Amino acid sequence: MDIPADLGRVLVIIPTYNERDNIERIVGRVRAAVPAVDVLVADDNSPDGTGRIADGLAAADDHVKVLHRKGKEGLGAAYIAGFRWAAEQGYDVMVEMDADGSHQPEELPRLLTALQDADLVLGARYIPGGRIENWPLSRQFISRGGNVFVRTMLGLPLRDATGGYRAFRAATLQKIGLDGVDSRGYCFQIDLARRSLKQGLRVVEVPITFVERVHGTSKMSRDIMVEAMVRVTQWGVADRVARLRGHR
Ligand code: GDD
Ligand code: MN
Repeated sequence: MDIPADLGRVLVIIPTYNERDNIERIVGRVRAAVPAVDVLVADDNSPDGTGRIADGLAAADDHVKVLHRKGKEGLGAAYIAGFRWAAEQGYDVMVEMDADGSHQPEELPRLLTALQDADLVLGARYIPGGRIENWPLSRQFISRGGNVFVRTMLGLPLRDATGGYRAFRAATLQKIGLDGVDSRGYCFQIDLARRSLKQGLRVVEVPITFVERVHGTSKMSRDIMVEAMVRVTQWGVADRVARLRGHR
């Protein structure tokens, strides 16, 4: 299946930290599923050599690029660097995708088709048609609970504000203004969704099937969860204060 031509040039950004056993397969699947797109691997100097493997893939395929970063600085920082690189290179659409096979490249045309009438498309697990395969109940609980917390604190009209399979128009990222974004971990996802809605942009959710990784390990940690809870609470309080001020 191909993608809507009027969207322009599309870059799929794949952040990696120790994804040695996943990187070749995911890049191959993206290139096979949607040959028109380019891929950027944003590697944080993975000790397991993921960056070197990515260099090999880039040498064999002009559509594959690698951004080598100094060290592990978090998913948010890697994506911001990738978005900046993409903007400099003149891409029109930037896609976020995990390296571990949790996000299906074969579903990308659906996300991009939805982007024709949207400014940001979120791949969503918690809407009709969305699914999760092989996630332990404990992890589903954290993810669903996190989304309830986000909805309660921020009042966002979204069912899956924390997911990491997304398509942005370049103009959307420009309007958000990445300079002000300092979320480092996974709360980066919530932050960008919230900023897009604040700008009055069209944010649309499309169902995806999320499949738990087979190789390697999740980088989710207590620190990442704490950062998300603290930030979401801060944003929620700031929003309420602003609303109260506005009403006086
Ligand atoms: N460059 C870089 N630096 N990449 C990172 C870092 C980092 O510090 N931390 C994680 N990554 C990469 C991983 O290598 C992987 O490709 C992707 O980011 C997602 O990391 P996982 O560790 O597989 O995340 P997860 O499966 O626990 O979490 C998923 O669910 C979260 C909550 O819904 C992801 O889809 C997240 O994006 C999502 O927020
Ligand atoms: Mn994962």
